[in-house]
Amino acid sequence: MENRIQNKIMSILLDHMAEGVHVIDQKGYTLAYNRAMERIEGLISDEVVGKHISEIFPRLDHTRSTLLQAIEHNQVIENYHQEYTNLRGERITTVNNTYPIMVNGVNYGAVEFSRNTTDERDYTDQVHKLMEGEINQTKPNYYTFDMIIGSSKLMQQALRIARRCAETDATVLIVGQTGTGKEMFAQSIHNASRRKHQRFIGINCAALPDSILESLLFGTVKGAFTGSVDRIGLFEQADRGSLFLDEINSLSANLQAKLLRVLQEGFVRRVGGTKDQPINVRMIAATNQSPSEQVEQGTLRRDLYYRLNVMRLDLPPLVQRPDDIMELAELFIEKYSRKADRVITGMSQDFRDALKQHEFRGNVRELEHLIEAAIHLKENDGQLELSDLPDHFYRNMDDQLLGLYRDDQPLTEYLAEIERNLIQSAYFKERGNVSNAAKRLGLPRQNLQYKLKKYDII
Ligand SMILES: Nc1ncnc2c1ncn2[C@@H]1O[C@H](COP(=O)(O)OP(=O)(O)OP(=O)(O)O)[C@@H](O)[C@H]1O
Ligand SMILES: [Mg+2]
Repeated sequence: MENRIQNKIMSILLDHMAEGVHVIDQKGYTLAYNRAMERIEGLISDEVVGKHISEIFPRLDHTRSTLLQAIEHNQVIENYHQEYTNLRGERITTVNNTYPIMVNGVNYGAVEFSRNTTDERDYTDQVHKLMEGEINQTKPNYYTFDMIIGSSKLMQQALRIARRCAETDATVLIVGQTGTGKEMFAQSIHNASRRKHQRFIGINCAALPDSILESLLFGTVKGAFTGSVDRIGLFEQADRGSLFLDEINSLSANLQAKLLRVLQEGFVRRVGGTKDQPINVRMIAATNQSPSEQVEQGTLRRDLYYRLNVMRLDLPPLVQRPDDIMELAELFIEKYSRKADRVITGMSQDFRDALKQHEFRGNVRELEHLIEAAIHLKENDGQLELSDLPDHFYRNMDDQLLGLYRDDQPLTEYLAEIERNLIQSAYFKERGNVSNAAKRLGLPRQNLQYKLKKYDII
């Protein structure tokens, strides 16, 4: 091929590469310098090509130039991390790979490829800062056992087990649907344990990508990866305290294995580090799905599951403890009426019934928000009434009607149940107004009145 054409191909290739390329001859004079390299170093190729490397970078320490090193020692230098200020004054980090050009044992120069990783570094840095901010904001001594409400048998049993957990140093696995109080229990266990004067650090494993989580948990050493610095991990930060890992099943298999090793050996090693650091941390893990199912599905490692399951705390969903609903509702009325500076004297019977019949998929959190919303929606002081409930409450009720079907049921009974629920739903939606509910259902008022009585709704 003609030299001219060859050169053209070379220049197109070079200028359209994402990585920076810098080629020098055996004496150190630049032969090629592409656009990506211009952007990284803040130079233009005309200023560089044909010049000696020491002329381009007058302050460049000879021994630190990877290009010159590659020529002098005939050495391949791979994965070399650099952080410097370029000629435009920008702080840049790169990963470089440098290769000597050898032909028949004779050196003709060197090629350097440079990948700009500044943005990745900034991203990692920002996430670390964000996370540190968030972690520092958690109120370590916030929840205690006496703030956990519920006289139901199931709740009392959970509290008994949790108090036992607090007396030990064993790893605890908390299992409970969303809003059942996992965070509350985790903090309470810490605050009742002998570690209570040390830190409680909580982190949600589902919130962050794996690589960031790994460096956050275990810490990093400078140079371990692009832009990494010496940074203490959460395990070390929680020394002598407790570390709460929420949504543990979101961790990758790889990180789960690393976590298991830490638990078994009692040491952490920072990412890129060589030293094992002994740690003294009580671990509390949580998940909102059945861990044995997660093991079956392969999202939770079996070995980690057995290691975590030593002390197991199951938090029952609210539907399984209807007695707690009223008690919690009263607590939240007290809390939010004080906050909103309102005088709320309790709940009407209708209101109570509606709460008892509701299937709280969001558990205590949903109940709490419902009461808060009702207090805000209420126009005057007094009892909470059905009409104070927000609209979305009724919409959820309709969804629940669909879930009622049981195929072992006689049809008449099933239809009666559906009818009862639809009538009750319409009655609630019309806030107890029989005429409007009858219109909504397309029934004569008289007829509806009869059915409301028959089904024990009024
Ligand atoms: N037994 C309880 N007594 C009083 N308040 C409770 C109880 N259980 C939960 N809460 C309240 O409900 C809300 C949710 O609790 P928490 O954050 O501990 O739940 P969670 O299980 O961690 O939920 P998620 O899985 O969604 O993170 C909190 O505001 C908490 O104060
Ligand atoms: Mg939680």
